[in-house]
Amino acid sequence: MSIPSGIVIRPMAPADLDAILNIEQASFSVPWQREHFEHEMAAPHSFPFVAESSGSIVGYVCLMSLFEEAQILDIAVAPQQRGKGIAQLLMDHAVAVAREKKAEVLALEVRSTNSSAITLYERCGFVRTGVREKYYEGRDDAVLMEKCLR
Ligand SMILES: CC(C)(COP(=O)(O)OP(=O)(O)OC[C@H]1O[C@@H](n2cnc3c(N)ncnc32)[C@H](O)[C@@H]1OP(=O)(O)O)[C@@H](O)C(=O)NCCC(=O)NCCS
Repeated sequence: MSIPSGIVIRPMAPADLDAILNIEQASFSVPWQREHFEHEMAAPHSFPFVAESSGSIVGYVCLMSLFEEAQILDIAVAPQQRGKGIAQLLMDHAVAVAREKKAEVLALEVRSTNSSAITLYERCGFVRTGVREKYYEGRDDAVLMEKCLR
């Protein structure tokens, strides 16, 4: 896949929230609310970023990095913008920031049925480290994944 041109990755700002919430609601059965993103923008160890194209928000990633461990808390791309490498760009950025913050491992959890996200993470160098059974709504398992940053 070629690297998408014209995409800028920058820190999330309050003015992005309406667009982010539209993408979030289109992407998840239990979407984050406005307060979740407001918290990520304010928290000292959180680093939320958006992908912007021609002034529109096309995706975002929320990274938390505290001492040696970092975590991807949320990532989504607008449905009509998927398959263009935008999530890959966001993940590359999150990995670079986590390294900059001296994290040694980057972790995440993903619904076991979310094969597109699992493929994305494997492609980014994440490996499966465990399973939390019936973690999502008492039904779907969570797959735990990690990438070593050392
Ligand atoms: C998962 C998601 C973020 C991927 O975004 P995207 O911008 O379409 O992904 P990219 O175009 O950057 O794809 C990068 C790689 O991920 C994998 N991938 C992404 N979408 C895929 C799909 N539908 N099927 C299989 N692999 C997929 C591929 O390996 C792809 O590289 P390739 O096309 O060269 O093979 C997007 O589908 C999304 O927002 N889903 C809803 C929210 C979500 O599930 N977030 C993850 C929660 S843990």
